Amino acid sequence: MEKFAEQTLQEFEGWEEFFNKPVDEKVQNFVRHNRIYDIIYAQQFDRSFLDYLCSLADSIRLLAKTKVGQSKLRHLLPHKRAMLYFVQPSTRTFLSFQNACHILGLTTSEIRGTSTSSEVKGESPEDTIRTFASYVDLIISRHPEAGFAEKTAWVLNQTEHPVPVLNGGSGPDQHPTQALLDIYTLEREFRTIGGLDGKKIAMVGDLKRGRTVRSLSYLMKNYQDVEVVYVAPEVFKMKDDIKEFLSKHDIPFKETEDFESIMPEVDAIYMTRIQNEYGSDPTSEAETYPQFHLKTSHLSMIQTHCAILHPLPRRYEIDIRIDKDPRAAYWRQERCGMWIRAALISYIFGVDGEIMNELS
Ligand code: NCD
Repeated sequence: MEKFAEQTLQEFEGWEEFFNKPVDEKVQNFVRHNRIYDIIYAQQFDRSFLDYLCSLADSIRLLAKTKVGQSKLRHLLPHKRAMLYFVQPSTRTFLSFQNACHILGLTTSEIRGTSTSSEVKGESPEDTIRTFASYVDLIISRHPEAGFAEKTAWVLNQTEHPVPVLNGGSGPDQHPTQALLDIYTLEREFRTIGGLDGKKIAMVGDLKRGRTVRSLSYLMKNYQDVEVVYVAPEVFKMKDDIKEFLSKHDIPFKETEDFESIMPEVDAIYMTRIQNEYGSDPTSEAETYPQFHLKTSHLSMIQTHCAILHPLPRRYEIDIRIDKDPRAAYWRQERCGMWIRAALISYIFGVDGEIMNELS
């Protein structure tokens, strides 16, 4: 049996007070020289930022089509190093961030579990993160604890050597870069029909513990005349904080348990899996909620332009035979993640202008 030392938990003076402030008051803390510095919450993004990042991602993907273009991209940030600190399972977020770094020439280091870091010796996560900042120029983190990225960015910003922190998923709370790639995907899928403005989006599944749908919901405030339909079993309904946010920003939404009834009226269906890992006894959560699955029989019920998204990993929520339908956008969505993350990193290091100039 492996023995782990008890983790050190010391109080950071001022953290509680900061943490309890409204997000609107906190965002300024994560900005430097009028640019977003740390990516912590989806509420940090406004429409002009989102539009800019999408066009930046388009430019990167266009440049990456040729050897000459790829070489130009790789010469943008070869002097920078990134740390991928992923202590919660991840395939897509990890690989897309890692490859986004490599596209721009950054070198990367990784830690993929607390059992291989000095946390085993009782080091606090905050000290572990501070250590990364001694060696690298960017930290990308995924952690099972809500608010983890926020706390580490807050701690680092008070040191003499801060580096930007990108939140690659913080427990059941937020996944802001997933929301960016979801927006990028939706804008691309709706490119010929006016983009995301005016569209009705259904979010389906475990809305209570799914961080992707929470972060994506926040971004809806940036689009005109959008409507949201939350489709979830009673136990996994969207939490009140998000519903209050939508109401505050006059975004119409409704909730239902009858998935089939809303299929014909929506422009996009965003499927999610049941997040068993957050249950107290995950193995006992055997129910798969088949009424909230998308089946081949549903393909004739949804609109011809309806985009089907899923942050992945998928279990039973989408029949694999749906993958062949042109409306299945989730594999394209996964690839969008790499381009938008490359766009984000280029923006963080201020080389975005060079990318845009290359194509102008
Ligand atoms: C999501 C996540 O980790 O929150 N996956 C991802 O980042 N693409 C969704 C999930 O795990 O269900």
